[in-house]
Amino acid sequence: MRPIFLIGYMGSGKSTLGRAVSALSGLQFVDLDNYIEGRFHMSVRELFAQRGEEGFRQVERNMLHEVADFENVIVACGGGTPCFFDNMQYMNDHGITVFLDTSIDKLHSRLMRGRHKRPLIADKTDDELRQFIIDALAGRMQHYSQAQISFTADELECRSQISVTSHRFCQQLSIPFEP
Ligand code: S3P
Repeated sequence: MRPIFLIGYMGSGKSTLGRAVSALSGLQFVDLDNYIEGRFHMSVRELFAQRGEEGFRQVERNMLHEVADFENVIVACGGGTPCFFDNMQYMNDHGITVFLDTSIDKLHSRLMRGRHKRPLIADKTDDELRQFIIDALAGRMQHYSQAQISFTADELECRSQISVTSHRFCQQLSIPFEP
């Protein structure tokens, strides 16, 4: 099976859902940020600090090309992955792309908790963060909307929601899983 690429804004649930679908289906899970961190022995924050965003995007593209060659994987992309170079086209050519459609309220509440490791938002106040999400999402939708499939990912807040949502994901994409 060709790779499944989960795309969507930071906090949309790509890693949470990807890990759960992996456990359910036996597909291997790859988190692109973790893959990059493992290869470069530094965090995404450190990579941004050392190479700037432009340098990070080059690395991200190269690593995306590597994982796109894997079989039977579900890949949680970074929020910006589809928005640079021809990455979106590349993913559409090499696998199945799924946009995680998550409400602004959910993105905001998840990112208020998880902003420290994300260099683009680490220094924002709660109010600034909300406006940043709204503006960034408006700019990025032109890329996200090229995904082959759109999947509602608001319900990922606790174990039971993650279970229901990952089952629904497998059903929607016809991925075999152990019930
Ligand atoms: C980014 C999202 C992050 C990470 C980097 C940049 C973005 O990944 O790749 O901080 O531009 O939206 P997550 O979406 O997994 O947080």
